[in-house]
Amino acid sequence: MEKEPLIALDFESSEEVDSFLHHFSQPLFVKVGMELYLQNGPEVIQRIKDKGHRIFLDLKLHDIPNTVGRAMQGLAKLEVDMINVHAAGGKDMMMRAMDGLERGSKGVVPKLIAVTQLTSTTESQMRQEQGISSTLVDSVKRYSILAKEAGLDGVVCSPYEADLVRKLCGDEFLRVTPGIRLPHGDHHDQKRVTTPCDARKLGSTHIVVGRSITKSSDAVQAYNEISKLWGLEHEKKYC
Ligand code: C5P
Repeated sequence: MEKEPLIALDFESSEEVDSFLHHFSQPLFVKVGMELYLQNGPEVIQRIKDKGHRIFLDLKLHDIPNTVGRAMQGLAKLEVDMINVHAAGGKDMMMRAMDGLERGSKGVVPKLIAVTQLTSTTESQMRQEQGISSTLVDSVKRYSILAKEAGLDGVVCSPYEADLVRKLCGDEFLRVTPGIRLPHGDHHDQKRVTTPCDARKLGSTHIVVGRSITKSSDAVQAYNEISKLWGLEHEKKYC
């Protein structure tokens, strides 16, 4: 289990990132998604790495296997700690992604994980819009097995599916879970949300937290509160 929550740096500019990170004195594990990366490019990654933080590059690649494989080979040069694809791209695409990552990495190969169903997706939405007739849990199950068979290190899922994924794919298979909120917090656009304590109890290995920290009036205090609830020193009143 990753001790620290991952902070989703969903900002537009590297200046905003700098002023946010400035509040923290310790090295963090942060998530850089498409909003920040696509507007600022690879320099933003180097800038964050230079401050000593670890990075999950959340670009959720989904394209034909050759394109994703070659893109991963290029992204490997950034030497991030974790990176991802959409499991919906299929097993061949995931295998090519892993192959590209291995070819492009000079040192440690980043962890490669696959997005199953987004935590903003509900079961009825999945059925109506994606035309998947199974349950949401079955869909997550299917994608997790596919990711495991393709040789990936884990999946992004909701904490509600984490234990099932663990049972199917093993303890070592990562369950990276967004959709985390404080018990009294706003859900924003997330549909399947849990508290950090519940995520721990449900078997997440990593939690990803964005707006509950980045939009808080006191980001450090929110981060510390979430860390406490995620870690072992949780407060009983919340758990
Ligand atoms: O602000 P919030 O805590 O909802 O941010 C969650 C982060 O996790 C966002 O950056 C979002 O893109 C990402 N994410 C997600 N659900 C997934 C995969 C990634 O919310 N299944």
